[in-house]
Amino acid sequence: MQTAITTSKLIKMKENGEKITALTAYDYLFAQMVDQAGIEIILVGDSLGMVFQGKATTLPVTMDESIYHTEIVARACERAMVIGDMPFMSYQGSIDEALKNAGRFLKEAGAAAVKLEGGADVSNIIEKIVKTGIPVQAHIGLTPQSVHQMGGFKVQRDEERLLDDAKRVQDAGAFSVVLEGIPSEISAKITALLTIPTIGIGAGLECDGQILVLPDMLGINNKKVPKFVKKYADVYTEVVNGLESFAKEVKNKSFPSKEYEYK
Ligand code: KIV
Repeated sequence: MQTAITTSKLIKMKENGEKITALTAYDYLFAQMVDQAGIEIILVGDSLGMVFQGKATTLPVTMDESIYHTEIVARACERAMVIGDMPFMSYQGSIDEALKNAGRFLKEAGAAAVKLEGGADVSNIIEKIVKTGIPVQAHIGLTPQSVHQMGGFKVQRDEERLLDDAKRVQDAGAFSVVLEGIPSEISAKITALLTIPTIGIGAGLECDGQILVLPDMLGINNKKVPKFVKKYADVYTEVVNGLESFAKEVKNKSFPSKEYEYK
């Protein structure tokens, strides 16, 4: 039997050179499938706002929405580590607010850890949350909550800053760090520098693990996806085909046929 994923198991995987798999999920049905597939980390990302709620950015996602989805996902998982993603302005205002909101993910939603965006600037917040016993995954590089400050969803190339951010979040006690939208050469340097696992998204092969947004990689989403997304299925087309077949059979009276009737 496969054992539950813990922060120490993830760090061991890095030490052993075993790649870590991570995906997002937002609901019970898909979380169950992701868990069954043996994926180690399920992030209830604030990508929720864009891929699940159809909004232009992640900024409008609220704490209550994140707790609602994280609780549903956590209920579906037997093995994967479920991480709740702290929404925009749920941790930046004050340490007290950050602690209270991080705690909600564990107390109310059953998550095992939280993720938050930012490097050196949020290292004091990471430190406080970790000291209360809540594991924190950091997120540096392209941080979507800062989309307006970055002038769009842009690849981040400031090597010195990225290396400093990575070191600072590790020193603050993060158990892992997401590297998003970073040239692979820089991600490789960060991965070699850190003892905690790096989980890449648009950050090349050298990261200790990879994460993708589930609706993008399964082709559930019919919108344009970023260059780094590989589509492993075309669920959107499959579903529309199934729905069209249902509509056609109802219209031409071939469904429900005798086999679907009660006697
Ligand atoms: O919100 C999210 O899904 C994320 C991943 C892209 C890492 O932060």
